[in-house]
Amino acid sequence: MIRIMKHSDLTQCGMIYSKAFPIEHWGIDWTTENATEYLKDFFEQKRFVGYVYEENNEVIGCIFALCKISGSRQELYINEMAVLPERQGCGIGRQLLEAVKDYSKDNGLAGIVLYTSRYAPASAFYEKNGFKLSDGTICMYFQ
Ligand SMILES: CC(C)(COP(=O)(O)OP(=O)(O)OC[C@H]1O[C@@H](n2cnc3c(N)ncnc32)[C@H](O)[C@@H]1OP(=O)(O)O)[C@@H](O)C(=O)NCCC(=O)NCCS
Repeated sequence: MIRIMKHSDLTQCGMIYSKAFPIEHWGIDWTTENATEYLKDFFEQKRFVGYVYEENNEVIGCIFALCKISGSRQELYINEMAVLPERQGCGIGRQLLEAVKDYSKDNGLAGIVLYTSRYAPASAFYEKNGFKLSDGTICMYFQ
């Protein structure tokens, strides 16, 4: 079942995150500890919106989002989401996205924004769930 995330879920979310983003594919040395710290920063933000998927008292997937004010509009930004690798492809990610879509609709938000890698399989997952490439936005980088 999907439920609202609690502070006590963060370590389990960190564990899931470190397994869902292995160094071989993403080049970042995530551990349960550093991922928990990273995710905690989102959790502690004022307009944080987060859900977990739980089964038999075990958290298996999580989504971290933030509500942002844009003038009189508000939008939801999905910062992170991850499902335990052995449970991916079973519809848990879709249910987590549904939870934030419901939140957006119930609160009259203008839309949902997310950034993902062009080269990661997750973009196909988001497209299947109704997300489209934004035509007006580009991502720039300085090094
Ligand atoms: C992306 C992710 C959150 C999706 O959650 P999920 O529970 O696996 O997704 P669902 O089961 O609801 O949907 C799976 C569908 O998305 C597609 N998909 C895209 N990326 C996928 C992936 N890495 N694993 C499984 N399915 C993926 C599949 O084609 C599948 O469609 P199908 O059911 O028609 O075969 C999860 O796979 C994950 O944690 N991946 C690694 C971390 C990641 O990429 N996070 C998002 C970064 S922005």
